[in-house]
Amino acid sequence: MKVCVLPGDGIGPEIVGEAVRVLEALRGDGIRLEMETALLGGCAVDAAGDPYPEETRRLARAADAVLLGAVGGPRYDTLPREQRPERGLLGIRKDLGLFANLRPAVLYPELANASSLKPEVVVGLDILIVRELTGDIYFGEPRGIETRGGERVGINTMIYSESEIRRIARVSFEAARKRSRRLCSVDKMNVLECTQLWRDVVTDEAKNHPDVELSHMLVDNAAMQLVRNPKQFDVMVTGNMFGDILSDEASMLTGSIGMLPSASLDEKGKGLYEPIHGSAPDIAGQGVANPLATILSTAMMLRYTFGQEAAAARVEGAVKQVLRQGLRTADIFEAGMKKVGTREMGDAVIAALRAAN
Ligand code: IPM
Ligand code: MG
Repeated sequence: MKVCVLPGDGIGPEIVGEAVRVLEALRGDGIRLEMETALLGGCAVDAAGDPYPEETRRLARAADAVLLGAVGGPRYDTLPREQRPERGLLGIRKDLGLFANLRPAVLYPELANASSLKPEVVVGLDILIVRELTGDIYFGEPRGIETRGGERVGINTMIYSESEIRRIARVSFEAARKRSRRLCSVDKMNVLECTQLWRDVVTDEAKNHPDVELSHMLVDNAAMQLVRNPKQFDVMVTGNMFGDILSDEASMLTGSIGMLPSASLDEKGKGLYEPIHGSAPDIAGQGVANPLATILSTAMMLRYTFGQEAAAARVEGAVKQVLRQGLRTADIFEAGMKKVGTREMGDAVIAALRAAN
């Protein structure tokens, strides 16, 4: 089992370091992962002039799974578009065919006060957003900035093929089947033809999944419903751009973006696993970042790529355990709790893993 480790930029190396230690701690349980580290994002631009260099491409393609920290930072914001760290991220998603992005938004009861919403609105929250990740306006052609009629125009193309919609619909119906069997598909069919097709294909695919209850919602309403009454949702499926926006919104319902992992899967179970949060350059190198989202990403890796459900559940259990013990990094700290740094948090998770053995 080969894992390509991409620490990335900012706090990436610190949080990935803890996640790697957690994976190593599972060795005793017979989970032997071969890990190789490579560069992605700003660090790759610095070293190789390319946010997704050839060597990284080779290792990522050869691996069964990829573990990513985070990419980007203010230093790179002024670079030409093709050298920006984001390009590395979009490049690896497309290159590896990682079309299915699973973004759970789960509220840990210990952290209910971290949400900006009233506790009764969010306690027990457990949503899964399934975002299509390799199509839509992110990759559609034509695109660019050109001159028309003596002035500049900016152009992007929202486009989905039936097969792209059908495969992400299938992933989300399957995901719903393993949960509360409710799927809400989000589109903008009242205005955009592309998403009329989306609705038609998802509706048609529902025939193959009669045990899942399908509903549809327009994206503006979905954004509103997510803050009004988020617990009405179980699984939501949507396109790349709406999913980008709604998944940030959903993650903030929990108040602790430092806690949320994600998985981006191809058609065969290969996956890229990363925390939802960014590279947090303001706290990089200080040893204070929260490693739990990255550690939870390794649990998703064990579950989705390696089929190691028991090990995945143990990692998740260990994270819950350290929260119950009152350990908090600065981002989720509350009075009365014990404030710890990145390394101590990693140590505590590993200790909880061992104790559970
Ligand atoms: C995300 C990010 C990326 C995206 C950026 C960094 C390209 O916002 O993973 O949600 O828009 O997909
Ligand atoms: Mg985003």
